[in-house]
Amino acid sequence: MLLLVLGSFFFASPRSIVPFYFNHVPPSPLPTKLLWKVAHACPLPLFFIIAAAFLLYRLLAAIFAILSGTSAIRPSWTISTRLIHSFVQSMTEVIPPQARHTYLLCRIFTTIPIPSFLVRARVETVNISMLDSSLWDKVWLFVAGTSCPVKYSNTEFIKGEWVMHYDVKPKSMEESHIVLYLHGGAHMMGSPGSHRGLISALSKSIKCPILAIDYTVSPEALFPTAIYQSLKAYQSLIQGPTATTKSIIPTSHVFFTNPSSSYTFKHSQITIIGDSSGGCLALQTLLLLPHTNLPPPSSVVFLSPHTDISMSQAIISPNLASDILAFDSVGYTYGKHLYTDFPITHPLVSPCFTTDFSALSGVKVLIQVGDAEILLGDSVRLFEGVKQRGGAGCEVEMQIWKDCFHVWQAFPGVAAKEAILKVGEFVRRERALDEGDSSGNMFSRFVHKNVKGWEQCVGEEGRRRRRLERAWSI
Ligand SMILES: *[C@@H]1O[C@H](CO)[C@@H](O)[C@H](O)[C@H]1NC(C)=O
Repeated sequence: MLLLVLGSFFFASPRSIVPFYFNHVPPSPLPTKLLWKVAHACPLPLFFIIAAAFLLYRLLAAIFAILSGTSAIRPSWTISTRLIHSFVQSMTEVIPPQARHTYLLCRIFTTIPIPSFLVRARVETVNISMLDSSLWDKVWLFVAGTSCPVKYSNTEFIKGEWVMHYDVKPKSMEESHIVLYLHGGAHMMGSPGSHRGLISALSKSIKCPILAIDYTVSPEALFPTAIYQSLKAYQSLIQGPTATTKSIIPTSHVFFTNPSSSYTFKHSQITIIGDSSGGCLALQTLLLLPHTNLPPPSSVVFLSPHTDISMSQAIISPNLASDILAFDSVGYTYGKHLYTDFPITHPLVSPCFTTDFSALSGVKVLIQVGDAEILLGDSVRLFEGVKQRGGAGCEVEMQIWKDCFHVWQAFPGVAAKEAILKVGEFVRRERALDEGDSSGNMFSRFVHKNVKGWEQCVGEEGRRRRRLERAWSI
């Protein structure tokens, strides 16, 4: 047994096995840190032991720091925040994108749903038809500028999940607002099931059912497949079956008092919400709507959106320590190849750089981001772009939350609860506004508690700070 373990250690490679199965993925570089070079060269059981030992070590270090009164990375953090931060950051360090066991662990993470009773939600799985070659052709034409060389050949349907918190009362389909939810996970993991806790909390706060779709992640699906799938789901919500496509998203009495196959939702009844890379997908979807002749939703909420694949806006120093994303730059570069073979300068691959936000005309936009995030710059850039070029009737609100890390809304804590409440307030307010006069642009900015900590946080990087301050002083 020992020989077997030692033997496989010498003969196994710490490199990712993904290129072996997916032709478009180039050979992977080695993980940056020696520990992960070694750990990922080991067979899976041994890797688990090393990873568990590492997690334990990091947790014990955090507990020791708390007991000895060593100051936290961010002063406002509670003990539980420090423990969660330490644990999740270690987890992201354990599986750099280019390493051998990463793909497998991402899949495991993706397929285990949180039991619905734990998140106090009713959940119903539905099939969403994906057969619409004319829509696929439109998406491809917009993305590549040419007609598509390959027929869309993905699955016949993707799964979706209607999620509604126990406390939400079902309304009729005409009266109900609904949310289309696009989960995050670096475009390569995650599922509606893994995000159920957050989705259920949002459902309670907005007081409506949420449809989370299980779009195909990379490397199985390259950009722009997920965009096509989310557009298709959105189209099925508002158009129902058309002459060429037989697709409607099934609903039931649990979610609506009068589910009927004849009623489809108005675009003004819909909000799109996405976290992290799901925020990127939400933005890509919105930017494509006019090109597919679909009307925009009433509002969109970006939770810590990751809209810059090139990472040029990333605030590595000093936010690397305070964020939960352990950033392996070599692995990150490799990860991009899993997602797309288009150049990263393509305006839809990193959609915050697009020069035309007119697709967001009439849409109310909320961006929530933490000032402890590597990806704070993505949100500032997106905010600037939408504010300047969002088109008539587009309103954007940016909330920078003090001392919050990436997608903190999904973790336990007071700030998460408050942020989710703010999302609910925003969506419900914008629905009311929709009926009245909402002409003219209204911009507001929001800093949780106070702005000082945030200024200090970016103060170490003069160039970035000047850019951020420009965004700040409208
Ligand atoms: C979805 O499709 C699969 C495969 O065709 C089928 O087994 C399943 O029952 C369907 N689920 C629903 C909710 O329609």
